Amino acid sequence: MKKKNGTESSDFGTNGRINHDSSKFYNSKLYSTLDNKIEIDKTENKLPNEYLNKFILGSAENMKELPNNSIHLMITSPPYNVSKVYDDDLTLKEYLQLLENSFRETYRTL
Ligand SMILES: C[S@@+](CC[C@H](N)C(=O)[O-])C[C@H]1O[C@@H](n2cnc3c(N)ncnc32)[C@H](O)[C@@H]1O
Repeated sequence: MKKKNGTESSDFGTNGRINHDSSKFYNSKLYSTLDNKIEIDKTENKLPNEYLNKFILGSAENMKELPNNSIHLMITSPPYNVSKVYDDDLTLKEYLQLLENSFRETYRTL
């Protein structure tokens, strides 16, 4: 049943997202083979006070300052590895490893 005053996945592009019903997306085949029985620890850990409202200069591959499950929102924009000035000219294997390490840390801390 459609929620009153809410939005849902549109057929093309995106519209506003207010009280958004994403069940159409999550009921699609994309996630149908995932094992939904995996137990996920939803305990929220506190971010140490010393890191509140601070910039941490480091690598997304190892966010050791951040405890597991301590972050509510993370925005990522990994390097493209296409010879931009900030790119390191990685091999495909190295590049995939960078992405995997970064996403693993993102998942761990969220
Ligand atoms: C696609 S750009 C993102 C640019 C950013 N969205 C902006 O508007 O400035 C990728 C950025 O990731 C940085 N970067 C590269 N390796 C990184 C790493 N291991 N951890 C965190 N950032 C990294 C690069 O220096 C570059 O600034």
